Amino acid sequence: MAASIPVKKASSSRISQIDFNNLEFGKHIADHMSIADYNKAKWHTPQIIPYGDLSMSPAMLSLHYGQAIFEGMKAYKMNDGNLSIFRIHKHHERLNKSLSRMCMPEIPHDLFIDALSTLLETDRAWVPQKDGSSLYIRPLVFASEARLGVKVSDEYKFIIMTSPVGPYYSKPLRVKVEEHYVRAAEGGTGVAKCAGNYGGAFLPTQQAREQGFDQVLWTDARDHQYIDEAGTMNIMFVLDGKLVTPQLTSAILDGVTRDSIITLANDLGLPVDERRVSLTDLIDGFNKGTLTEAFGTGTAAIVAPIAVIHIHGKDYTLPKVGATSFQQRVKQKLHNIRIGAEPDVHQWNHIIKIK
Ligand code: COI
Repeated sequence: MAASIPVKKASSSRISQIDFNNLEFGKHIADHMSIADYNKAKWHTPQIIPYGDLSMSPAMLSLHYGQAIFEGMKAYKMNDGNLSIFRIHKHHERLNKSLSRMCMPEIPHDLFIDALSTLLETDRAWVPQKDGSSLYIRPLVFASEARLGVKVSDEYKFIIMTSPVGPYYSKPLRVKVEEHYVRAAEGGTGVAKCAGNYGGAFLPTQQAREQGFDQVLWTDARDHQYIDEAGTMNIMFVLDGKLVTPQLTSAILDGVTRDSIITLANDLGLPVDERRVSLTDLIDGFNKGTLTEAFGTGTAAIVAPIAVIHIHGKDYTLPKVGATSFQQRVKQKLHNIRIGAEPDVHQWNHIIKIK
């Protein structure tokens, strides 16, 4: 355990109330959280305390002007009984990119690693054992200074909480190409994992659900001609025998799962093409039969098969996903690496040893 982080244990655990066979995403939060304050121009030592409500001012700046960012990460129980946190350094890097875009102070590397490792050791019993389950980790930073003036906050809180989760989607998705609303424009905040990006997506997503779709397929803000993301995930296609995915722009989140799957596609010998992907490319691929797979990628969803893409008022159906589909094989490989069933050649696992 990182000795520098004080731990105040909960007087009793809530773990016996959890049905680990039926985990609704994000419903149950583990017994403890890590909390650190930023004031007087520096981050102070985090503490692990029982998870619970905080007392805060209704004037705090994050509520009014949106200085709030988060991360989504996962920890797994490994075959040897230890825990692995997936790509902790890449998540820390992205957290700091989001902070910097929102004019918030970056979190020092050691503070992040020590706080998270100590929290995971404290709540190690909350990491699910079952295949397809994991402990979702939610780091969150928000402006806590109480002031109505429009200004950059001088005070922040950095909290990490965790939640045992099962599969995010239960079936392949029907997605609708969005041609009216915009998730993010180039130069905006799409590249940051900031709260406002998600709040702004609620209305279009709710409307798509009312029309019988599971998610929105976001297109570029200028022409609505190029694919950006799928709901809260990055998107990938197998097109003309290649893994094709929209190239990163300032409107697209640099997904950690996206990056991992690109790396594994290279390992598996599937050529990768990161480029602009137009609606015409997709329609042509459907018509010629060369678009064989479409799937979303993200920490929560991992790999989410797409069954139908609705373009210009028409449903286009993808072939069914089978055991030899790329998305199935890459998902299995990712899982094997995380639980220690395959060598971690890219050094993605941050191991927490359980004595
Ligand atoms: C994630 O995949 O970790 C996300 O943050 C998406 C969603 C759960 C907000």
